[in-house]
Amino acid sequence: MENISIALPKGRMADSAITLFEKAGIAENILKDISRKLVVNDHKNLMKFMLVKPMDVPTYVEHGAADLGISGKDILLEQKKDCYEVLDLKFGFCKMVVAGPKEAKDSFLTNKRVATKFPNIAEEFFRQKGENVEIIKLNGSVELAPIVGLSEVIVDIVETGNTLRENGLIVIEEIFPSSARLIVNKASLKTKSQRIKEIIVKLKEVVETFKEVKND
Ligand code: PRP
Repeated sequence: MENISIALPKGRMADSAITLFEKAGIAENILKDISRKLVVNDHKNLMKFMLVKPMDVPTYVEHGAADLGISGKDILLEQKKDCYEVLDLKFGFCKMVVAGPKEAKDSFLTNKRVATKFPNIAEEFFRQKGENVEIIKLNGSVELAPIVGLSEVIVDIVETGNTLRENGLIVIEEIFPSSARLIVNKASLKTKSQRIKEIIVKLKEVVETFKEVKND
């Protein structure tokens, strides 16, 4: 049987992603190893797990360095990489929003400055609204931008809302909801079809069971 490699996102989605694979019986006890190493081989189950920056997961999958990956829908919509999105994993729920200080809500500035880690999503959103904006690309701590006058608003992900609250910002407009998705390399789905389909079925079972437990 072939080895299957999987790119998991570091950070806030890592624990849920690892738990999902363990509950599905696809990997055993990888959590303690992967927190120390970047690649962990599960020889018994013929799996290889790698831990990468969330923004890099689709790149590993598109190039076939990983057969499968777990990525937020937000990142998939931003990057539009060439891979298949096969399953909504129903965790990592958050929202893409326009946010800013309270005053920004009712101001109708032309050529508003928008700071964001998601320049393509932001550009498309304001283009569809017919608003002219200047997009300022940042790599993190985006909430700082309106506070120090780098931008009027931000386009960013909100999960608990704590970061916005702590920085005196509010949600001005919701753009779309996001959650974790399972993505697959296009060639791998053909060459390793049987194993990948088995994994998808097992993950789907766990996702459905969780959903039922939550809805009870
Ligand atoms: C994300 C996002 C917000 C924050 C929202 O950043 O860009 O800053 O989380 O989460 P909350 O609503 O639960 O407060 P991340 O933690 O990934 O760090 P970064 O700013 O360095 O990208």
